[in-house]
Amino acid sequence: MQTINTVTNKLRSILEESSTPLIHLPSIVVVGEQSSGKSSVLENLVGKDFLPRGNGIVTRRPLILQLSSVPQQNNQSITYAYFGNSEKERIHSLSKVKKEIEFKTEKIAPGKNISSHRLVLNIVSSDVPELTLIDLPGLTQVSVEGQDKNISEKIRNLVFSYIKNPKTIILVIIPANQDLANSAALKIAKEVDPKGERTLGVLTKVDLMQKGTNVLTGILEGGIHPLKLGYIPIINRSQQDILYNKKIQTSLFDEEEFFKNKYPKYCTRCGTKYLKKQLSKLLFVHLKKCLPDIKNNINNKIKSYRHKETQFQNKYGKFDEMENKGGFLMQKLNIFSNAYIGSI
Ligand code: GDP
Ligand code: NA
Ligand code: MG
Repeated sequence: MQTINTVTNKLRSILEESSTPLIHLPSIVVVGEQSSGKSSVLENLVGKDFLPRGNGIVTRRPLILQLSSVPQQNNQSITYAYFGNSEKERIHSLSKVKKEIEFKTEKIAPGKNISSHRLVLNIVSSDVPELTLIDLPGLTQVSVEGQDKNISEKIRNLVFSYIKNPKTIILVIIPANQDLANSAALKIAKEVDPKGERTLGVLTKVDLMQKGTNVLTGILEGGIHPLKLGYIPIINRSQQDILYNKKIQTSLFDEEEFFKNKYPKYCTRCGTKYLKKQLSKLLFVHLKKCLPDIKNNINNKIKSYRHKETQFQNKYGKFDEMENKGGFLMQKLNIFSNAYIGSI
């Protein structure tokens, strides 16, 4: 499947050669308070078990997840991962990936500390969408023993540095059993995206909501703390489920059943499946918006390469071809969108 990453990776490799920062292609960032379910949501989106999750400050450095879709081999799904540029050091067991993330986190951010040093994890698989997802430490109000006094501010600045980029889609993760009005995540998202054009609300822990409350229906009908793109209620695996190794597919099935039974009127707007669909639509619209920028960027880079014309041509092909890449990219976006939206 020819997909957008093939194109964007090519662009990246070209643009990374120059000293200016690479063009920023859209990615999806999760923002939320500690243990709101950010890592769980990302795992569900990917459909694989590989992220450290749990109560307390588990995610302590930015994790950039680059998902690349590859064809099946001999009718069999394949999945492997590698960190950074170490493409030769392929890891085939996802539980090993999880351990390695923990190890690389502990090394850079020991104990309960956090670090802004990003960790890049590539996941290459025949059953993932082409996406870049970013997992971040959770927002906190206070520091605990063993943490810097200014940790809240440190985390806040870190989150801010990722979501301020207008090319990111912000997933605000809020536990449904908490008050939306007090959500620090919602507040910080509003600062960078006041119109709510790239912020999507995700309500986790719907299974833990008190019986008899109708807060959820209020939110879904847009009456409470309206967000332009709305909120999507979902259910991740609980700590107990993690302890008992509940399979992700079982959890996705149970989630669907839960919404069908408890919220029949709204069930088509609930759950991880629906979240994926909305995200891919949003991503596509957003990519389209970013396209003129990307094109300009490419053209500028081409101009700055003109003087090294021969070298450049030998390496990347003719300029005419490069100049057509903008249109080419648009074509790929369409293919990508059709493939992705159709596949979930
Ligand atoms: P993060 O700190 O925001 O990344 O949150 P995690 O994904 O690590 O989850 C924190 C804890 O909340 C874990 O024990 C999860 O099992 C639990 N959790 C997350 N989402 C849900 C949910 O929808 N329902 C239930 N019952 N527990 C959840
Ligand atoms: Na946590
Ligand atoms: Mg986490």
